[in-house]
Amino acid sequence: MCKDTNNILALSQRRYSVRNYTSQPVTEEQLQYMLEVARLAPSAVNLQPWSFIVVRERELLDSLSAAYSRDWFKTAPCCIVVCGNHNESWHRRYDGKDHCDIDIAIATEHLALAATELGLGSCWVCNFDADVCKQVLQLPEGVEPIVMLPIGYAAQEAAPEKKRKSFDDVVIWR
Ligand SMILES: Cc1cc2nc3c(=O)[nH]c(=O)nc-3n(C[C@H](O)[C@H](O)[C@H](O)COP(=O)(O)O)c2cc1C
Repeated sequence: MCKDTNNILALSQRRYSVRNYTSQPVTEEQLQYMLEVARLAPSAVNLQPWSFIVVRERELLDSLSAAYSRDWFKTAPCCIVVCGNHNESWHRRYDGKDHCDIDIAIATEHLALAATELGLGSCWVCNFDADVCKQVLQLPEGVEPIVMLPIGYAAQEAAPEKKRKSFDDVVIWR
């Protein structure tokens, strides 16, 4: 087994939802790296129905916080809004199931793990007002903001304990 401190297991153990950030900015180089990792994510039928809106301007971040009014959200120096285009995503022939959310989830976790590798923190946010977000970012019809991912350096030192169901509770061997 690979012992690298940045292997996928180590990154998964280290990543946690950061809900308090320092004001230290995320650099252009760091953003380029994370976005490249996300761009390489798999998607159904390789349709890549995503776009990544990188919000760094303080004024726009404040406007965005109207969609998710938590004080901690405003501490992030940057937020990537991961959008899905339902007109571009794969819909399964048998039942019409839209795979957009799945594709966006994979790309978002690529971003989150890449951020962890760079020593940055992030937090998935889905419990936001999508209409407000759409309006603030002036998104075109058919494009849905699915995840907001604030990113930055964690302000607090100690990572919280990982609370997960046990291996045996979730893995079924047949
Ligand atoms: C799809 C999804 C939506 C989430 N939405 C929110 C949210 O709106 N606000 C929030 O504070 N955390 C949100 N989270 C973070 C989860 O609460 C968190 O991942 C979970 O409690 C496990 O904790 P950990 O990320 O620290 O390991 C979301 C996570 C996922 C995967």
